[in-house]
Amino acid sequence: MDSNNTLVGFGAGKVILLGEHSVVYGYPALAGPLSRGVTARGEASNKCQLVIPEALTPEQRKVLKAAFGRAMAACDEPGVRVSFNTDLPLSMGLGSSGALSVACARVLLQAAGRKASAMDVANVAWEMEQEFHGTPSGVDHTTSALEQLILYRRKPGAESGRSKVVESPKPVRLVVVMAGARSPTKTTVGALRERQKRWSERYQRVFREIGLLASEGAEAVEEGDLEALGDVMNVNHGLLAALGLSSPGLDDMVHRLRNMGALGAKLTGAGGDGGAVIGLFHDTAPAVHELTRQGFRCFDSQLAGPREEGATRGAA
Ligand code: MEV
Repeated sequence: MDSNNTLVGFGAGKVILLGEHSVVYGYPALAGPLSRGVTARGEASNKCQLVIPEALTPEQRKVLKAAFGRAMAACDEPGVRVSFNTDLPLSMGLGSSGALSVACARVLLQAAGRKASAMDVANVAWEMEQEFHGTPSGVDHTTSALEQLILYRRKPGAESGRSKVVESPKPVRLVVVMAGARSPTKTTVGALRERQKRWSERYQRVFREIGLLASEGAEAVEEGDLEALGDVMNVNHGLLAALGLSSPGLDDMVHRLRNMGALGAKLTGAGGDGGAVIGLFHDTAPAVHELTRQGFRCFDSQLAGPREEGATRGAA
């Protein structure tokens, strides 16, 4: 709560370091929180409601209303008027809907006078995420709620996912850069689902391999072996491209980051026709400077490991 008696809840954006898409089929993914995200604010009101931003299309308004309706029902509809703002690039694969779900869940739980542990928050946020994404793996809102680098897995048919916190002895620093607009996650995930239904064995083989990469990447993080982590990211990008999830714009950005000295680079999130690309660097500042000079929207973030004195989570 802030000094004006307003309830405040933050939901962090996320990046998937390894394992997007295959995580939907029950394989592990390695994901961490961004310092950027969504902040929700709640004021006392005679009914439970969400202030829906004017700029949204009628379809987006409908989905958002339905999603909030599920979260509010899960909290017994406390009397609170919730509004939100974000500093996260939207619809880029950086978990904006998961972050919004977590931010709203935090405010609703506070308003209901309920416990708001990370798992309580994740459970309410999950209601919203299902409305946004149809068949989400749960990695986005779980990473946002836990705010740690995690190896996440939700086995097929399981009610919920399991997360293992992955500690790093070294700073894991990324450059996050936008590489063009993209179709909604639901569309990209749905199109892949159709392909994998038709050629199930071939696609399952690739998903399994990506799952192994995510586990190897987690080990590399724990050992402080950033070169190995970078290599795993490169191989993962190749497999995502093999699954039809990259595009000339995303590939071009991946190569641009590698040419700037990235230890590894790949698309992150649903990918498809555009979205965010991540590059792993020992020192992110020169790449951020150069990409900004070239006119790209980018920022850097630290996902895990020791932080410099005075630094907050993530640089941006
Ligand atoms: C989206 O951020 C990540 C995907 O793996 C979908 C999901 O996990 O629900 C593409």
